[in-house]
Amino acid sequence: MKIARFVCGLLLVTTSVQALAWGQNGHRIVGQIANEHLTKKTQQALLPLLGGDLLAEVGTWADEMRSDPAEFWQKDSTRWHYINVAAPKDFDASHYHTPQTKEEVKDIYGGILRCIAALKDKNTPLAERQFYLRFLVHLVGDIHQPMHTGHAEDRGGNLIEVKFFGELTNLHSLWDTELLESQNLSFSEFAAFINTQDKQLIKTYLTSSPADWLKESMALSESIYQSAAPAATNTLPEFSYGYIHQQLPVAEERLLQAGIRLAGLLNSIFDPRAKPGTAALAVKP
Ligand code: ADE
Ligand code: ZN
Ligand code: ZN
Repeated sequence: MKIARFVCGLLLVTTSVQALAWGQNGHRIVGQIANEHLTKKTQQALLPLLGGDLLAEVGTWADEMRSDPAEFWQKDSTRWHYINVAAPKDFDASHYHTPQTKEEVKDIYGGILRCIAALKDKNTPLAERQFYLRFLVHLVGDIHQPMHTGHAEDRGGNLIEVKFFGELTNLHSLWDTELLESQNLSFSEFAAFINTQDKQLIKTYLTSSPADWLKESMALSESIYQSAAPAATNTLPEFSYGYIHQQLPVAEERLLQAGIRLAGLLNSIFDPRAKPGTAALAVKP
């Protein structure tokens, strides 16, 4: 009995700490939107790297691989998914050096810079290019999830318990998964609902760098933390329709920005001479 309780407790702890990414649908939505904003040339260049898969499929690969026993996946890859900075002003992109190897990657921002550098390098072997493309699709999604830039002490909200429609969860998981799942949409329905062809909006989203995406997420995470501050000690924040009404538009905009910006980034890597006005040019790491 005691052992059973211990194992259950352990499972609860590991599952909550392992909440590492937008849930599956979040990543699929980002990949699906990106796919619709790629230039023809980028689509062609991606074919051998995707090996027949869709961008919407490969976005979840970096989470699935966490079950692989290799040390990289069990240990090193964890820190690629997030960054913990006390305050946005503490993050200075100009002091950041692009990691030259996988081992040098310390957080999601370094992970994105590493992926971009490896994909731009003509000498990167095919298997490595496939690795870096898959990770990049995942990380552009994660960096737009505000709780992936949260505080270290609560593991980006993983340790903050909340209730959502009466079910116990945590603030991180609420944003990775439950908020999106509350809509009961497939990833392709969700992507179709939020996608845009508004050129002006697309241009605004693309005039940004990964450091901007990170700072936007940090600012959003602060208001998410505030909204989850308990009204009284020993009470859990309880969320339902009101939370969806307030925060779903934020989550939807982050998914849309992630999809458009992923496409812009891939176009800038694989079709750098695309005409201005396409999604290609504006994203500068
Ligand atoms: N996922 C696991 N640990 C995390 C952390 N410290 N911050 C954000 N996301 C996480
Ligand atoms: Zn992740
Ligand atoms: Zn997560």
